[in-house]
Amino acid sequence: MKEIFPGVFADQTRLFTVNAIPGERVYGERLVENGGVELRQWDYYRSKLAAAIKNGLAQLPIKPGSVVLYLGAAEGTTVSHVADIIGEEGIVIGVDVSERVMRKFIILCERRQNIIPIIADADRPWTYKEYFTGKKISVLYQDVSQKNQALIFLKNAEYFLKEGSYGLLAIKAKSISQEKTAEEIFSEEVAKLNE
Ligand SMILES: C[S@@+](CC[C@H](N)C(=O)[O-])C[C@H]1O[C@@H](n2cnc3c(N)ncnc32)[C@H](O)[C@@H]1O
Repeated sequence: MKEIFPGVFADQTRLFTVNAIPGERVYGERLVENGGVELRQWDYYRSKLAAAIKNGLAQLPIKPGSVVLYLGAAEGTTVSHVADIIGEEGIVIGVDVSERVMRKFIILCERRQNIIPIIADADRPWTYKEYFTGKKISVLYQDVSQKNQALIFLKNAEYFLKEGSYGLLAIKAKSISQEKTAEEIFSEEVAKLNE
């Protein structure tokens, strides 16, 4: 087992984070013991961030102590691993527009004290900006299944990113178009970001 980024571990095939609440699973993942510490397997078929790491992501700006604004929290599969990585000194604010997924997410927030839920539309950042007065966001992470993903990301970047902060955008190609190839969609979204 090797620590490939602070708080992220890997063996030959699998990824793990240190379980903030030993003995508790979030989505049925495997728990393993490593040198007296309990790790939770991070399923890269269920988390785009884990898939990016598995595929050789060069830098992971989400670190112990980070303040993360996470758009598209859903039931908290990936957020739970982000919460493991940032630890007690960090905080992850999870935004989702769906009350249905938020019901489950709120239960996760009650168990893990470094996660804060906000029910809001990420396309309208001005509706939740008041919660961030005086807070410096170190990382904006977005995974919303919407047609205008890059524009939503840019709007939030304008409100919340400061000099030295990072933005990570997971693009769900099939939410943008069923006809175009994933490669075409990615290059169009990257062009919007470059602009
Ligand atoms: C692909 S799922 C996110 C999965 C999650 N990031 C994970 O890895 O565990 C996309 C989520 O984005 C949310 N979403 C879609 N449009 C949104 C919007 N405009 N604002 C906030 N959340 C949105 C959906 O409700 C859904 O829960």
